[in-house]
Amino acid sequence: MPSYTLNINGKQRSVTVDEDTPLLWVLRDELNLVGTKFGCGIGQCGACTVHVDGSATRSCQIQVSVLEDLKVTTIEGLSKEGKHPVQEAWTETDVPQCGYCQAGQIMTASAFLSENKNPSTVEIREAMHGNICRCASYNRIEKAVKLAAE
Ligand code: FES
Repeated sequence: MPSYTLNINGKQRSVTVDEDTPLLWVLRDELNLVGTKFGCGIGQCGACTVHVDGSATRSCQIQVSVLEDLKVTTIEGLSKEGKHPVQEAWTETDVPQCGYCQAGQIMTASAFLSENKNPSTVEIREAMHGNICRCASYNRIEKAVKLAAE
């Protein structure tokens, strides 16, 4: 099997895996970064969202072999110190119910807000609509994204 050196949360990490291994399984099974969740495995739910060079990316849909020159950030690396402002807003708004989708939601929201500092409600809904929450915490998610943008 080939070896790859990846930039994960600002650190160089080496893994030896098949070239078509999705990033999701590299994170969870090889690097023990289990904050990134498996939901559907087919790019439909958003639970596995991480940042790749700052963009929200579904880690179940990107293979390890294309990542060597890119920067990956997971929920564990979102904030350098304490909580990221989006995480603060999530706590303040008491968003999670079961919590399973929340890492993906926060990674999508934080990438979105880094591009759009003053989003409208419609823009927030458009940005977040691909992240599924089975507890339907969508109203609180929207509130938290608005709060984080303030
Ligand atoms: Fe990747 Fe659902 S697990 S989008």
